[in-house]
Amino acid sequence: DWNSGNVIAEQVERIRAQIGHARVISALSGGVDSAVSTALVHKAVGDQLTAIFVDHGLLRKGEREQVENDYVASTGVRLITIDAREQFLNALAGVSDPEQKRKIIGREFIRSFEAAERDLVAEAKADGEPIRFLVQGTLYPDVVESGGGTGAANIKSHHNVGGLPEDLQFELVEPLRTLFKDEVRQIGRDLGLPEAIVGRQPFPGPGLGIRIVGEVTADRLEILRDADAIARAELSAAGLDNEIWQCPVVLLADVRSVGVQGDGRTYGHPIVLRPVSSEDAMTADWTRLPYDVLSKISNRITNEVRDINRVVLDVTSKPPGTIEWE
Ligand code: XMP
Repeated sequence: DWNSGNVIAEQVERIRAQIGHARVISALSGGVDSAVSTALVHKAVGDQLTAIFVDHGLLRKGEREQVENDYVASTGVRLITIDAREQFLNALAGVSDPEQKRKIIGREFIRSFEAAERDLVAEAKADGEPIRFLVQGTLYPDVVESGGGTGAANIKSHHNVGGLPEDLQFELVEPLRTLFKDEVRQIGRDLGLPEAIVGRQPFPGPGLGIRIVGEVTADRLEILRDADAIARAELSAAGLDNEIWQCPVVLLADVRSVGVQGDGRTYGHPIVLRPVSSEDAMTADWTRLPYDVLSKISNRITNEVRDINRVVLDVTSKPPGTIEWE
C-alpha cells in the first residue's frame, strides 16, 4: 500500500510549508539520495532552489557531465558547478595516509561549498533574502543510526560528500527522512530522473581519492578513471549491475611489478578489482564474477590503460576487509 505518488504529494506540501518563499541550497554529489531530495525540493519550490556541485577532480569518468547534463535536463534545477580540481590536488599533494586524505577532502569540500554559498548569500542579500535552508538527503536508516535527533549538529560526516560543517547555520530540509533506499529510488524514477542516477551503486564521498593507495596525483587519477570506466562498462555489458553491490577499482600506485608486453619488459602498477555482494555494506562477501567477464576486464585494462600491466582480484570478505581499501 506504499504509494510513491502520495509520498511525493505529501512531501511537496511539507517542503512548501517549511520553506515558504525563502531561498534554499542543496549540495549535489551525484549520488541517489542528494539527487532525489534535490529533485523533490525543486518540484516544491522551483527556482527558489540552487543546487551546488563541487567537482573535486576525484569523480568517475562522465560523472560531472551526468549531473550537469542529464540531471539538469530531467529536473530543470538551477545548478552551480564549482571547479575545485586544482584546489583539491594541491591540498592532497604529498599525502598518502588514508585518514589524512579523508580529512583534507572533507575540509576542502566544506571550503568550496561555503565559498559558493557566500556568493549566493551576497547575491541574495541584494534583494533582502539571505539563504536559511539547506537540503539534506538523510534517509530513515541514517536517522535511526544517528539516534533520531534533528538539526544541523546531526549531519553525518561519513555518507555525505565530505560531510557538511556542523556550524553552517542552516535549517535542514530533509524530505527523505522517513524513507528507505528502494523507496527513494522509486520516487526518483517517478520524478523522471535518469536510471543512470537512480540506479547508481554506492560511491564514497572522497571518491577516487581513497582508491589510490599512495599519493593522489592528476596522472594517477587519470589512470584510475580509465580503468574504472572499463570495469564499469564491462560489468554493465554483462548484465551484472544488479548482482553486485559495488565494485571498487583500486590503483596500487606505490607498487610495481614486472611484466612483458609487445616486444618488451614493462614495470607497471597493478589494478585491484573489488566486486562485493552486500545487503547494507556493514558486511560483504566478494562476488563470484564469471571468469570470462574478469578476463575481458583484465585484457582491456592492461591493453588500454597506460602504466597498468597487471589486474588482481580481491577475494576478501568484510570483515576482515573493508569494502574500500582506504
Ligand atoms: P567500507 O570501506 O567501510 O565501506 O566497508 C562501506 C560503504 O561505505 C562507502 N564509503 C563511504 N561513503 N563517504 C561515503 O559517502 C565515505 O567517506 C565512505 N567511505 C566508504 C563504501 O563505498 C561502501 O559502500
